[in-house]
Amino acid sequence: MVSKEKEKNDETKKDADDQEKDKPIQVLDEEDIELLKSYNLGPYTVRIKTAEDDITKIAKNVDKLKGIKESDTGLAPPSVWDLVGDRQMMQSEQALQVARCTKIIAPNTEDAKYLINLRQIAKYVVALGDRVAPTDIEEGMRVGVDRTKYQIQIPLPPKIDPSVTMMTVEEKPDVTYDDVGGCKEQIEKLKEVVELPLLHSGRFVKLGIDPPKGVLLYGPPGTGKTLLARAVANRTDACFIRVIGSELVQKYVGEGARMVRELFQMARTKKACIIFFDEIDAIGGARVDDGAGGDNEVQRTMLQIVSELDGFDARGNIKVLMATNRPDTLDPALTRPGRLDRKIEFLPPDIEGRRKIFEIHARSINCAKGIRWELLARLCPNSTGAEIRSVCTEAGMFAIRQRRKAVTEKDMLDAINKVIKGFAKFSSTAKYMVYN
Ligand SMILES: Nc1ncnc2c1ncn2[C@@H]1O[C@H](COP(=O)(O)OP(=O)(O)O)[C@@H](O)[C@H]1O
Ligand SMILES: [Mg+2]
Repeated sequence: MVSKEKEKNDETKKDADDQEKDKPIQVLDEEDIELLKSYNLGPYTVRIKTAEDDITKIAKNVDKLKGIKESDTGLAPPSVWDLVGDRQMMQSEQALQVARCTKIIAPNTEDAKYLINLRQIAKYVVALGDRVAPTDIEEGMRVGVDRTKYQIQIPLPPKIDPSVTMMTVEEKPDVTYDDVGGCKEQIEKLKEVVELPLLHSGRFVKLGIDPPKGVLLYGPPGTGKTLLARAVANRTDACFIRVIGSELVQKYVGEGARMVRELFQMARTKKACIIFFDEIDAIGGARVDDGAGGDNEVQRTMLQIVSELDGFDARGNIKVLMATNRPDTLDPALTRPGRLDRKIEFLPPDIEGRRKIFEIHARSINCAKGIRWELLARLCPNSTGAEIRSVCTEAGMFAIRQRRKAVTEKDMLDAINKVIKGFAKFSSTAKYMVYN
């Protein structure tokens, strides 16, 4: 191109060419370079940047002088600590004893008296302390009493096993409904049971029906039962309690049942609460008469759940979710309508669902462009979500082994061969289908 032009120039416009040759090549000077450097920058960009740097520097300096070391422990800075005052306050308040208020004599009058039970050994009739209002104390409550006159000083919350309190899910899981591929129907059904009564309880009252109390999620392993429950926990503002069935199997007789009781007791104190029993078949197995009474403890725990399900008011805001992959082994008493009204089956995803699941798990993976997810989904029939996730991980492993930075379609195909075909022996879906 250039040479052609040159020829043209040579032939037609010799004068112009000469002129161009005469022109000396201009070297970029300082000013031009400065211009190039500041190209695309706003007029104040540099100044703003230096000002920002200064601000962070000053903020750091202030923190240093205050004595905070980049922590978020929530402690006040040491300069405002009042250790002496704190110590005095601790000494001025004496330790209290725990008692149970068993009866209120002449309640709602000026000279109400309280009957307390101190450690099951002594009973006293006492008055209230100065700092307690009469409305705070109810019959059957745990209270703190002082050691000299046994006056009631403070109302205490009901006693609940710390291991039960620990089951409350405080940090919301980071799974949302978007992370669940396929399962549209199941999500809708679950929302209907869990969210509708909690959000619009009025509608149920108006119509005069009881909202469903509980839901059983069942299906082969790895189809997203636990995942969906976690998504529910993320979405709802209700308190979420997660119990794994085997946690309720305890060493001593009656312990499991007591834990269930305390669990529901704790749930009832909340405004709205969802209890999720995962792997419920650990305790919900059908009752069999083995003659020796070997498994009776487990059955007692299950019966406690059954009676708690019956006991609470359905419009009270407790919802119970249970998940299992052996619904055939569950005791019919547990699954009868009125206890677990809804049963939601999770089946291996269809082709559209599989494509969705592939895409969900590929989101976090560095993939090459143009992978045909549709084709991959077609290649793994009857696979569960967990298997598809495993395929994605294996594909990543193939890429790492070859020191590549992105996963290609070939990796995916190899992984499908390895996971879906190679591990077919371990697939539990077929077995599940036989049992149910
Ligand atoms: N429908 C799905 N969409 C996205 N991922 C899924 C799906 N089903 C299963 N998975 C993946 O499989 C893993 C195991 O699923 P999980 O819900 O624990 O199975 P289970 O039904 O046995 O409780 C999940 O952490 C998730 O990564
Ligand atoms: Mg599970």
